[in-house]
Amino acid sequence: MNSHPSMSELVGDTNLSHWGSINTPIMLIDESIALRLLARARDISDQTGVLLFYSVKPLQLPQFQNLASGFVDGFAASSYFEAQLIRQTAGKETSVHFTSPGIRPEEIVRLADLCDYVNFNSLSQLQRFGRAVQGRARYGLRVNPQLSFLDDKRYNPSRRASKLGVPLTDLIAVLSNGAKDTLVGVSGLHFHNNTDSTDFSQLLQTVEHIDLHLGRWLSTLDWINLGGGYLFDEGVNLAPFQQAVELLKSKHELEIFIEPGAALVRDAGFIVSSVVDLFMSDGKQIAVLDTTVNHMPEVFEYQYEPEVLGHTDDGDHSYILAGASCLAGDLFGEYSFDEPLKIGSRVVFTGMGAYTLVKAHMFNGINLPTIYTLTKDGELVLEKEFTYEDFASRNGLEIHDHA
Ligand SMILES: Cc1ncc(COP(=O)(O)O)c(C=O)c1O
Repeated sequence: MNSHPSMSELVGDTNLSHWGSINTPIMLIDESIALRLLARARDISDQTGVLLFYSVKPLQLPQFQNLASGFVDGFAASSYFEAQLIRQTAGKETSVHFTSPGIRPEEIVRLADLCDYVNFNSLSQLQRFGRAVQGRARYGLRVNPQLSFLDDKRYNPSRRASKLGVPLTDLIAVLSNGAKDTLVGVSGLHFHNNTDSTDFSQLLQTVEHIDLHLGRWLSTLDWINLGGGYLFDEGVNLAPFQQAVELLKSKHELEIFIEPGAALVRDAGFIVSSVVDLFMSDGKQIAVLDTTVNHMPEVFEYQYEPEVLGHTDDGDHSYILAGASCLAGDLFGEYSFDEPLKIGSRVVFTGMGAYTLVKAHMFNGINLPTIYTLTKDGELVLEKEFTYEDFASRNGLEIHDHA
């Protein structure tokens, strides 16, 4: 396929006539935007002097991993499958960090062979799996700094009684009551205690807090992984980030990693859908789409209204954009447009690159969006089209006869 418009040319054209016969819903990854986000992250890690790892959890498409390989120093995995996928796509040379609260005994040796760094989430994991990892990968501990920056406790890794990381107070107790042997073999520390923050003073605060309480032990370690949870928006103030890095390097001579996810992919993803029905309900126009919150479950989880291309604040034509499933709350919100929507009009959701496809499911048997990449040369490449066979096989039914 060629001569397709860039995503920016599609903006404002809600009928997207250029898309001709392409069936929706589509998950589109715009390579030019992805390259821009990756270059920016690379630039920030160079400016601050940290190693850049891409945490693959928001988007695991091999095509994106291939693109990212040219910019990052490694990848971060949160499961055995993710680690396997990274090795398969990014190869043997790349560096892989791992952490998960749910390591299973039967996978620890294979995991350690796949990864360069294993961060244990608890002292119990360390005790049970440390020996198996020794000699295979370097290992560290995830600490819960017990500093909260998020109001919604569902997404707050430092909530009370958190399952994520060794509580800082427990680590202090281990170090001060002579039980240091517990930590033999630990060469690094990891924390991740934020989401979608653009305020790097929170990162500095966390680093200062850890330094204050674990400073002497930190100096005996080799590396620290500062996690993800920060966005690299234009104009963001990097000074506190630089200060945090400076503190860790000058006082403790640590190798420093970051492992952002969403910052590298969110803006590169679009979900393109079509209007499949229009009708009135209690005086409101309902526009039913062929996409659903199944494709972007965080819209439902967070109850947020995703951004839609071409809508205006005071357009003459208002609609409740609704998803295609039977769930009454499968709704995106109320949007207005200057031009009326018709059956077949295209509705494009932006900011869909992170935590959408990876969480998407087939509730109601509604198919997943077809995945396309818009290359930097404007070529639209079909990456994956899901079929009835995918749906049937998830339900344990293998279809061998295609007749
Ligand atoms: C341990 C860890 N590292 C990195 C990330 C990536 O976070 P984000 O996508 O917010 O940058 C997450 C997200 O949940 C995480 O749990």
